[in-house]
Amino acid sequence: MKKHFYANFKMNKTFKEIEDYCKNFIQTVKINDKNEIALFVPYVSLKETKHLFKNENILIGAQNVHFADNGAYTGEISAIMLKECETDVVLIGHSERRKFFKETDEDINKKIKQMMKYNVKVVLCIGETRDERQMLKTKQVITNQLKKALNGLYENEFKNIIIAYEPIWAIGTGEVATNKIIEEAINLIREILASLYNSALSNNTPILYGGSVTQENCKSLNKIKNLNGFLIGGASLNPKDFSFIINSCFKE
Ligand code: 13P
Repeated sequence: MKKHFYANFKMNKTFKEIEDYCKNFIQTVKINDKNEIALFVPYVSLKETKHLFKNENILIGAQNVHFADNGAYTGEISAIMLKECETDVVLIGHSERRKFFKETDEDINKKIKQMMKYNVKVVLCIGETRDERQMLKTKQVITNQLKKALNGLYENEFKNIIIAYEPIWAIGTGEVATNKIIEEAINLIREILASLYNSALSNNTPILYGGSVTQENCKSLNKIKNLNGFLIGGASLNPKDFSFIINSCFKE
């Protein structure tokens, strides 16, 4: 399976800043078909960023989508609008969306189904809070989030599904999860996928880790069996840091 290096810019970088980023990034990053690189940029920069990278094998992603085709949803963006911007992949259910914008598992399920209709890849983000981990509820939370988000999806749609395990206590805190914690979460996610569908689907679904991935810890994280890459926030904002991470974990 490809190694995934996905950068979530969140609400950072104007298009001008993305242009500067691109020049630097292209000069330093290694690219080949065994790796998959994606940049999740703000909506307003999607189309232009796609054109910036038109000669490179780099995917351009959105950070959210609305679940309706169209309608009276002021401020929202639909799947067809994302298609028009040539979006390759969409983040769904990021913990910041769940926390600040009160997205529910049901909303997330509808958003995934909406993107499936348009045949666009999604990254479903799941993960527990610190309190949930301390109360030994991690397994229950992950199981619940996963089952609700994937409810009603067909096996053949999994060619477009990626799962990102992002424990909320590790996001933006500098407190990266241990390899053991990540391995346990990945094993659980694969077990659930195998029980909902089958083991081939489970083994073929990419699972990424996100939460305080840096240049310093990426090599150790890269040793985790069964992990197919990273979803990176803070460390992806600097093109040299993101390239360093990719180049250190790159599949030749
Ligand atoms: P950080 O890498 O800044 O912890 O963010 C992770 C994240 O939220 C990626 O979606």
